Amino acid sequence: MNNPVSRRIFFKVSGASAASGALMGAAPVQAAAVWPDRAVAQLAGLRVNVPLPFSYPDATSPCVLLKFGRPVPAGVGPERDIVAYSALCTHMGCPLAYDSAAQTFKCGCHYSQFDPEHGGQMVCGQATTGLPQVQLAVSRDGAIHATGVSGLIYGRVNNIRGA
Ligand code: FES
Repeated sequence: MNNPVSRRIFFKVSGASAASGALMGAAPVQAAAVWPDRAVAQLAGLRVNVPLPFSYPDATSPCVLLKFGRPVPAGVGPERDIVAYSALCTHMGCPLAYDSAAQTFKCGCHYSQFDPEHGGQMVCGQATTGLPQVQLAVSRDGAIHATGVSGLIYGRVNNIRGA
């Protein structure tokens, strides 16, 4: 039996439910984090296997840039050999030291080690994750820019404070 009143009420109610469901089920909109683009080194100033410290994305986040002299995964520059990582241990945030003989980052707190030639992966110790890797780009004038970080920097809920 055709009942136009019932059908109109049905559409009003179902439309209202769909609209409220969409509002209630929608994820809150958050502003996208904006990574600073910062020149951190010059190609001409790098030496193979000599670490270059810098801070990124802010002054409280120590990082280290390395040139290997041979291509490495995610390496940038003419030889695809330059990478950079957070210099904070992923276990409990202790500062890392670069051992140029072993070509690893070592943590003096609980002896975790990380391999910068292979994506910063953890190779031994208490840490359970690899190092956050700084994304790099090289401009035409030979400046190496930090443009982001993949992986969460130790001790943070967001890599960019306030994001
Ligand atoms: Fe580095 Fe514990 S803080 S191994």
